[in-house]
Parts: sequence; structure tokens; C-alpha cells
Amino acid sequence: MTSTLQSLPWWKQGPIYQIYPRSFLDTNGDGVGDLEGIRRKLDYLKDLGVRGIWLSPIYPSPLADFGYDITNYHDIDPVFGSLEGFRSLVREADQRGIALIMDMVLNHTSHQHPWFIESRSSRESMKRDWYIWKDGRRGLFGRRFPNNWMAAFGGHAWTFDEQSGQYYLHLFTEEQPDLNWRNPEVQRAMLGELTFWLDLGVKGFRLDVINYLVKDAQFRNNPYHFRATYPRRHDLQHHQYDRNQSETYDIIRSLRDLLDSYAGSSEETMLVGEVYPDEGVHAPDLAATYIGDGRELLHLAFDFSPIYTKLTAGDLYSVLNNWYSVLSPQAWPCHVLSNHDQSRASSRLCAGPDSEAKKKLLAALILTQRGTPFLYYGEEIGMVDGKIRRQDLQDPLGKKYYPFHPGRDRSRTPMQWTDGPGAGFTEGKPWLPINPDYRERNVKAQEGDPSSLLTWYKALIHLRQQEAALHSGTIEFIQAGLADEVLAYRRRIGEEEVLVVLNVSGQTRQNPGGRGGRVLLSTHRKSESPIEQDTRLAPWECTVYK
Ligand code: GLC
Repeated sequence: MTSTLQSLPWWKQGPIYQIYPRSFLDTNGDGVGDLEGIRRKLDYLKDLGVRGIWLSPIYPSPLADFGYDITNYHDIDPVFGSLEGFRSLVREADQRGIALIMDMVLNHTSHQHPWFIESRSSRESMKRDWYIWKDGRRGLFGRRFPNNWMAAFGGHAWTFDEQSGQYYLHLFTEEQPDLNWRNPEVQRAMLGELTFWLDLGVKGFRLDVINYLVKDAQFRNNPYHFRATYPRRHDLQHHQYDRNQSETYDIIRSLRDLLDSYAGSSEETMLVGEVYPDEGVHAPDLAATYIGDGRELLHLAFDFSPIYTKLTAGDLYSVLNNWYSVLSPQAWPCHVLSNHDQSRASSRLCAGPDSEAKKKLLAALILTQRGTPFLYYGEEIGMVDGKIRRQDLQDPLGKKYYPFHPGRDRSRTPMQWTDGPGAGFTEGKPWLPINPDYRERNVKAQEGDPSSLLTWYKALIHLRQQEAALHSGTIEFIQAGLADEVLAYRRRIGEEEVLVVLNVSGQTRQNPGGRGGRVLLSTHRKSESPIEQDTRLAPWECTVYK
């Protein structure tokens, strides 16, 4: 069995850090982050210990959905910089051992993409069949939608085009028409776009809503599904026919073939998929189907169960255990607590008393699990959701459902680098308000502070790289502690064993792992202290023993 870090493919070696480029660092004073800003922070990321960066979309876009509506898949939006700047970023990241992966939006383009403009121009257009066009059904009171599918960002998933007299499908906003992936020309064109980035040295892709690609051939109605939710009709159906069709897996196989034929080995480049289940549903089994044994489908897929969980030992255990138990033994897990679509875990799970201690616990959890941890920018300093006033909202989802849904801007506020003007993020007016807590919570204040969250993240990442049991070992949970709010597990490889003990409570508890061994890292005990005799755990204590 593999036990040295270097013998693992890059994406198994360390955390992957998601950057929302608009909010990372602005170097030209326009209030929007840019590629040059990312380049300037590469040393920061290297020092943190990240092994890869996932860049949310930086392609030209009219911003109906903040970059997830693309007009040109092989260029950079001028607000972020240029292809020239991108090449330097790839090169300089590579010099620091950091790989770059791009966010690829394959399900839909912008309505301003030349393909859609052409497709829309007439029913006879050469590109008509590149998108999904349908006649309306005839109803008692005139024209009706082709079926009952609803869009994630409100309203029906069909928009009528007056000029050509048909409806087109869009599972998100009407400015994001869905491509017709049953058309081989679409498949070829998109593979070409992926090749463009691979040629530039990109090491893989995060695939946006990858399970949506192919739709039911007969366009059947989705079944009704009752749930109590904010008023989004999209959530009142079970998405049986607009997602997860078997042909999608064939497309993924062809993407994987492209990457494999491109790289020297099948694991040098990586595909990680966003597999979206019905809203609020834990669906690790669905995500697992998109990985299979990891050899011909995706390398990694996100299980979003942690987004819907609570901070208790039992809940965390069942989410993790469910994820591991549905994965094939050859598959490699990954873990994600926060991203650009969700409330940050620091707000969702760590609000109230002891919030900083809870954040340390989540960090210890995600960085000592099996598989690849994904970190979201600012997670390492404990950034919390912003409070965005109605007039500052940017996100189409937030604007549409105000005040029922908070939207997604809250987790996209600018990175907090310093306590100076603009939080060190910008000298201009930031595109989203900076969270006022930047005066206390920022990178500069935490760097060099031995008790800070940032220091804790660095120590954990470093430890994960040092200990083979942590980066490559098996995991076995100790059930005995769960009723007592203690989540403990052993990570093993060969003769080596590491014990992780997390007290998920504000009370003193007992260590269910017994006498722990030598302390490798702890929120409460001295590192490298000799065999520990004390089996009591302090409130929220996190200790890693060997
Ligand atoms: C994914 C993205 C989200 C985007 C949507 C449509 O869920 O993460 O930000 O709005 O797809 O592209």
C-alpha cells in the first residue's frame, strides 16, 4: 500500500482551496478581485499548505449568474485579467507545487454565447439542435409550457422565443439556456474547450451541476414532491426526468477519456463533480454513482450531506460513515463544508457560544478524514456569512426570493486580509460589502498568533502531510463515545496508528479511545508530550495522538 505522500497523485496529497475570484484580492481598484491578486497570494497559499486551487468561473460573462453564464469558454473576462496573466498564474503556481483547476459549466451557456444567438436565429439554424427547443402544448386557454419542469432560480424552466415560435429549456435563469448534450456536435465542441485549458497547463476541472447534463428523451413531467420550504416551486418536484439520466454517465466517460489520453497517467489530471441532489436531501449514494470505482468516471464528487447536518457527534458520524459506506473500496472520498452557494459552515454550524472552538473542531475533522479536503477561501480565518442589505444584493437567487431566501452573496463577501481600509482586499468600492468584523478577523491578525485558527489550519495540514496514516490510512470510528458527544476514530496504515479525538460539546468528557499515546497536535495539550495519562477531555478539545 502507498505510504509516501509523493507517490500519491497531486489531488490526493493535500487540500484543494476554492477561490471565488471576484472576492479574493483586487489589485486595480475596481472593487472586483483579479488574477493578479491571486498570483500575489500564491505564497500565502503555499504556506497554508494547499495542493490545488479551484477557480470559480473567470470566463467572459454578462453576469446573469456571476460567471456561471459563459459567452466564451476559451478566454478570460477582462475584469479578471488576460490569458497572458493566466499563463503566469499557472506557471507560478506550479513552481510552488500548486495545481490549478477550472470551473467548467457544461450544462448551459449564456444566452449571449454566439452558439445560442445562432441557435435562436431561426428554426433552420445550423445550431438549432445545439440547445433544447420544444413546441408548447395546446391548452384550453392557449399555449402551455412543454412540460412541468421548474427552474432553480424561479419560474418555469421554459422560455418562449417569440421570433422562432418555440420554447427553450433553462434549468437556471432564462439567461442560461441548456445545451443539448444528445447532440454529438455539442459534445465535440465542449471537449475542445476542455483541451484548450489542458493545453495551458490546467490540472483538471470542477464540473458544474454535472448530473444535469442529459435530459429525459421524452421530456416527461417530474413527479410532485411535497416539502415545507420557501416558495420555490422547483423544490416541490422530484427531479426524476431533468437530472441523472443514464446517458450522462456516458458523457462523463468521454470527458474522462480525454483527460486520461491527455495526461501521462490517468491520475495526473482530475475531475471533481458537483452532483446536486433534490434540495435538502442527503444523497451520498447518488454522488457515489458518479465516481464508480474511480477508474472511468469522475475522480471525485461532492457529497453535500454536511451542508444539511448539525454539529453533534452522532450527526457528523452518520454523515461521514454514510459517505464512506456507499463508496466503492477503490474510490477516493472528498469532503466539503462550505462553498459559494451555501451559508458558510462557520455560521451554519458554529454560531453561538464557543464559536471559535467549534471552528477549530470542524477544521480538525475535515483535515483528518480519509480523502481530499476542500477548503473555501476565508474558512481558514473563520470568516462568517455577511449580512447583505436588499439594495446590495447581487445574486439572482437572492433578488428573486427576497426576503424568503437569503441568497448566496452572504458567503461571497471579500477576503479579509488586514484591518486596514478595504480589509486589504481593495482600494476601491468592493463589489459586495466587506463583513465589518474584518477589523478583528483578518489574515494579518492571525498570522504568527500561535492560538489562531489560521495557525491551527496550517498545523493540521502539515500533520496530514507528515503522517501516512492521515493521508493514506483506513478509518475506524469508535462508537463508544458517540452518545457522550465525542467523535473519535483511528486512522491506520501498516503498523502505524493515529487516534483523533474530538469533543463535540462544551462539557468535560471522557476519551473513549482510552489512554491516547503521544500527542501530535492538540487544542489543549502540549504537542509531542509523552504518553498521556489523562483521559478527560476539555470542552471542544481536539487531540491527535500517535
Ligand atoms: C452550480 C453553481 C452555482 C450556479 C449553478 C448554475 O450549482 O455552483 O453557483 O449558480 O450551478 O450554473
